[in-house]
Amino acid sequence: MGFPNLLLVWSLSHDLYTSGGAHYNQENSWKNRNLSSVPPDLGGDLRELDLSSNFIRQLHTLALPYLEQLDLSSNQLDLISEEAFEKLARLEHLNLSRNELNINLDSNSKALQSLGRLKSLDISMNGLSNHAAELYLRNKSALHQLKMTGNALIRLSHSLFRESKGLQIITIDKNLISEIAPGTFEPLMHLEMLNLAKNNLEHICDFKLHQVKYLNLSKNSLEFFFTSEDDHLYSLEILDLSYNKLLYFPIVPKLNRLRYLHLQNNLLGTLNSEATMVSEANSLYNQIVGEERVLRNRLHSNWRLMPLIYIDLSYNHFRAFPLETLSLLSSLKTMNFSFNCLQNISWKIRHYSSSGNTRQLFFPSLKHLNLQSNGLVHISPLFFKALTQIRTLNLEDNLVKLCTATDNMTSFYSTQNASCVAFEHLTTLKHLNLKENNMEMLKPNTFLRNPLVSLNLAKNQHMVLHEGALEGAQTTLQSLILSEINMSSSGLSLPCMPALTHINISNNRFNEIPLSLACSPLKSIDISNNAFLTLNHSLIRILSKRLLLMFIAGNPFHCCDSTWLKNLNETTELPDINETKCYTNIKNVMIREYLKSPSLYCLDKDSEKVHLGQMVIIVLFIVVLSATLIVFIRKLCCLKISFME
Ligand SMILES: *[C@@H]1O[C@H](CO)[C@@H](O)[C@H](O)[C@H]1NC(C)=O
Ligand SMILES: *[C@@H]1O[C@H](CO)[C@@H](O)[C@H](O)[C@H]1NC(C)=O
Ligand SMILES: *[C@@H]1O[C@H](CO)[C@@H](O)[C@H](O)[C@H]1NC(C)=O
Ligand SMILES: *[C@@H]1O[C@H](CO)[C@@H](O)[C@H](O)[C@H]1NC(C)=O
Ligand SMILES: *[C@@H]1O[C@H](CO)[C@@H](O)[C@H](O)[C@H]1NC(C)=O
Ligand SMILES: *[C@@H]1O[C@H](CO)[C@@H](O)[C@H](O)[C@H]1NC(C)=O
Ligand SMILES: *[C@@H]1O[C@H](CO)[C@@H](O)[C@H](O)[C@H]1NC(C)=O
Ligand SMILES: *[C@@H]1O[C@H](CO)[C@@H](O)[C@H](O)[C@H]1NC(C)=O
Ligand SMILES: *[C@@H]1O[C@H](CO)[C@@H](O)[C@H](O)[C@H]1NC(C)=O
Ligand SMILES: *[C@@H]1O[C@H](CO)[C@@H](O)[C@H](O)[C@H]1NC(C)=O
Ligand SMILES: *[C@@H]1O[C@H](CO)[C@@H](O)[C@H](O)[C@H]1NC(C)=O
Ligand SMILES: *[C@@H]1O[C@H](CO)[C@@H](O)[C@H](O)[C@H]1NC(C)=O
Repeated sequence: MGFPNLLLVWSLSHDLYTSGGAHYNQENSWKNRNLSSVPPDLGGDLRELDLSSNFIRQLHTLALPYLEQLDLSSNQLDLISEEAFEKLARLEHLNLSRNELNINLDSNSKALQSLGRLKSLDISMNGLSNHAAELYLRNKSALHQLKMTGNALIRLSHSLFRESKGLQIITIDKNLISEIAPGTFEPLMHLEMLNLAKNNLEHICDFKLHQVKYLNLSKNSLEFFFTSEDDHLYSLEILDLSYNKLLYFPIVPKLNRLRYLHLQNNLLGTLNSEATMVSEANSLYNQIVGEERVLRNRLHSNWRLMPLIYIDLSYNHFRAFPLETLSLLSSLKTMNFSFNCLQNISWKIRHYSSSGNTRQLFFPSLKHLNLQSNGLVHISPLFFKALTQIRTLNLEDNLVKLCTATDNMTSFYSTQNASCVAFEHLTTLKHLNLKENNMEMLKPNTFLRNPLVSLNLAKNQHMVLHEGALEGAQTTLQSLILSEINMSSSGLSLPCMPALTHINISNNRFNEIPLSLACSPLKSIDISNNAFLTLNHSLIRILSKRLLLMFIAGNPFHCCDSTWLKNLNETTELPDINETKCYTNIKNVMIREYLKSPSLYCLDKDSEKVHLGQMVIIVLFIVVLSATLIVFIRKLCCLKISFME
């Protein structure tokens, strides 16, 4: 059974556990009812009973002969009478987590021992000691799944699982385990998943569990993990050694199926060099295993055979990239090397021949490489040359200085001490993240040979994007992020990008959307937090045919010049419209308020026409009136004059 199948079984059984009885309509939930004892007249034909989250302290005989699942988790149970479970002949799933079963061991353990058919048992969070756990696991030959999270186990001994040898899944995380006696897990022939995370283990000197597929040792205090060599095939597929104190790469079984190796948050790379680490690991191994043949590089010979596809080395202390060890992993697809202290990736490897030629190693399957937050300045072109299948490269938060076409490439590639990074060799690269690299200039042809689909250039404050910088990638690029660069419209000219569907130019000083975006079948655009007063109507009309999503808040839009918004509103979702303001001559308003009654804030063209007509009439009226008045006054004057005569 492969590991995915195992997960399927786990989740199926979990579903069954939580909803299985529904078909029979014989489940019964008394969850969270403030009960202090089991309700007296439960139907005798119940198959499921949920009494979790109550205040039950004692349990006496339950006469439920058909019961298959019983949940008593989160009570205050400390006393189960000896015969309490005797009539539960069909019980298969029992949850006793979050109780106080560390006392009254005599009675409680006798009760549990009568449950010989139990398939899954959860006794987490009960303060159990080694001794209590051992008593509770008696007569459990049918048990498949055991959970003992958050107890007080200190030492696991071979007697612990003596009567539960059918176990497939064991979870004993969050205990105080510092010692595992030889022979504890080895006899459990069906054991596939073992979780010992969050304990106090300091070494794994001799890993011998051939049958286990999943082993979680995360959050212990492990300094090393060694397997003594034998010719067994180990089933191990997933090994989690993260959050420990590893100084050395683990020495894995010679023949294994390891696919996922989690080594993040350790002390790897603390030792001076890769060579030191490898030789110290090997000699320590020899000391412990007592092997004589000191010369063998067991670490490397076993890593070479490992079919790993995923390794997480993030949050370690590497100052140099362990090229020779990692390049042994010929199936590796994903490597996370983020949050180390690399600064440089140079090509310092041992020469095997005397010819003096540099040896080219390869990472023949590596598709996704994460180098975020390393302080990287320089990456050797030979390293990029080794990445023959690379698709995703994350260089976020480094200090990468890009080589430019004006540098002499010929001399650059012939030496190895140039202090810049060129992407020339990454001809399969699709996704490149160069966010926050303090880059000042993106010169023409930087990505000439990279068929990029997405490019993130965000947060390179004050970066200048030269015309032609995207040359080579412009026909393939689908997503471009240019946010937080403090860039203005005059500082950006984009080429026609016929594949571009997403662009983010938020948090800059733009006041115009680059017209060349009319070329692109944009589905989403983020122009929030810029200096837009209005948007180009005809561009918006073109874009709005395809645009599904647009972010616009944080711009000083003019309310009275916002017909673009009417066009957009009909076709495009504007998720931040409720935070968007616009400005009139007198005040700013939420654009949503403005849209409700635009005439309240701005005079639109029709009402202006009405005004003009009125004005004409008024003017005419005044003209006529004053003419009449003049005539009248004249007449009056004439009259006066004639009087005076
Ligand atoms: C349980 O008791 C608490 C506190 O007395 C009360 O608030 C709550 O409503 C009770 N719940 C039920 C289901 O009776
Ligand atoms: C037992 O109950 C606890 C608390 O209700 C829950 O978190 C846990 O998943 C249950 N155990 C199993 C094996 O389902
Ligand atoms: C072990 O479990 C079986 C039921 O599967 C039961 O008949 C037997 O009495 C139990 N043994 C003890 C010592 O309780
Ligand atoms: C191992 O256990 C830790 C702690 O419980 C958990 O966070 C992690 O996801 C587990 N690892 C795997 C590979 O499942
Ligand atoms: C490491 O990177 C991979 C992908 O590059 C990612 O899936 C994983 O979550 C990362 N791990 C950590 C600890 O950040
Ligand atoms: C580049 O460097 C190479 C080797 O150093 C030299 O032969 C060549 O002339 C240089 N080309 C230019 C254009 O400077
Ligand atoms: C490269 O570095 C070596 C010494 O490390 C030096 O001799 C050589 O001149 C350098 N080459 C260039 C092109 O800077
Ligand atoms: C990184 O490489 C550059 C150029 O080769 C060199 O000047 C610098 O000292 C190196 N830094 C470290 C930490 O190795
Ligand atoms: C655009 O980039 C900003 C960071 O500057 C981010 O907060 C925002 O979520 C991005 N927009 C979209 C649509 O992803
Ligand atoms: C962005 O650029 C403007 C104009 O050059 C400058 O005044 C402002 O301080 C810059 N903002 C930041 C955060 O650097
Ligand atoms: C925007 O569209 C919604 C429905 O899609 C409609 O109810 C609303 O009146 C429109 N607003 C404007 C200003 O066109
Ligand atoms: C904006 O607010 C209105 C009213 O409060 C609400 O109906 C609408 O769904 C909100 N729109 C968005 C995009 O959140």
